[in-house]
Amino acid sequence: MSVIRTAVTGVGAYLPEQIVTNADLAKIVETSDEWIQERTGIKERRRAAPGQCTSDLAVEAAREALAKAGKTPADVDLVIVATTTPDLTFPATAAIVQRKLGVPVCPAFDVQAVCSGFVYALTVADGFVARGHARCALVIGAETMTRLLDYADRGTCVLFGDGAGAFVLEPVEGQGTTADRGMLGFALRADGQKQDLLYMDGGPSSTGTVGHLRMVGAQVFRHAVVNIAEAVEAAAAQAGISVPDVDWFVPHQANQRILQGVAHRLGLDENKVISTVALHANTSAASIPLAFAEGIADGRIKPGQLLLLEAMGGGFTWGACVLRL
Ligand code: UT7
Repeated sequence: MSVIRTAVTGVGAYLPEQIVTNADLAKIVETSDEWIQERTGIKERRRAAPGQCTSDLAVEAAREALAKAGKTPADVDLVIVATTTPDLTFPATAAIVQRKLGVPVCPAFDVQAVCSGFVYALTVADGFVARGHARCALVIGAETMTRLLDYADRGTCVLFGDGAGAFVLEPVEGQGTTADRGMLGFALRADGQKQDLLYMDGGPSSTGTVGHLRMVGAQVFRHAVVNIAEAVEAAAAQAGISVPDVDWFVPHQANQRILQGVAHRLGLDENKVISTVALHANTSAASIPLAFAEGIADGRIKPGQLLLLEAMGGGFTWGACVLRL
């Protein structure tokens, strides 16, 4: 049976120039390179330059993704930005990106699911593309997380970085089988009861401020390892595959120990895990497309391969996506 699938036809990434090492952070908060590497796997992270906004990072990643897909901004008919660090409360960062890229009038909006934002945004975009409402969708994960950090809190300020990654999505014809190119299965989850474990302590309608990121790290860690596995299995079941069949596991990059813990729980070979946490740290909604782009650039991820994406973040939110490139 012929079906329309949503295929990834271009991937782009952008990291700001400034590198912040663990040693740099040890000068401002009581920590050490040794502790950070041992507990998280992080060696360094990028920080956006003063005046460089989330939309600026997003535009760079989007330009690369469009070039890889052989498309121009004039071809784009949907822009979704997954971000927790919008340039402004409104308009949506997606509309700012649309303006900066010169994309014609089309739907443009943000998705806010924190670190799970990219998986959520892919699901939303699939709804447009697979139903014929978009022929060239730009889905971007972009963050300036370093702007949300309390640099007196060593439990959080060492964990995050800035960056952006983008996918171009286009409709392709499939046969309704697991051999099809494109998105094959999703599972999205949220549990608002866990808000107090990971949140911002400010916002437009509560404090009138941006606030700072707050996290009870150890509890978030536990939840991440246990609950992601269930969503991954559900996405795999919807796709009609079994998890060990995937060629590459491209998880949200929060902590190397979480990546390993989830891979182990899923029975996935550690050699199938794309990890960028050492050099990017946690870039929230940007981490999956950044890791995906790196896997393509270094030749590990190839057309035709089966990819498993997953993420977990504030809300709590979490989810997974299975696709064939
Ligand atoms: O993307 C959104 C989801 N976020 C995550 O997935 C993050 C999940 N959590 C984690 O990655 C880990 O829990 C952390 C890396 C945040 C912390 O690692 P942990 O092994 O869970 O450490 P902990 O929070 O239990 O803290 C252990 C000790 C504490 O000291 P005491 O109370 O045992 O004396 C902390 O104060 O480590 C201390 N500590 C630090 N020490 C040096 C916490 N942060 C630091 C630091 N440098 N930066």
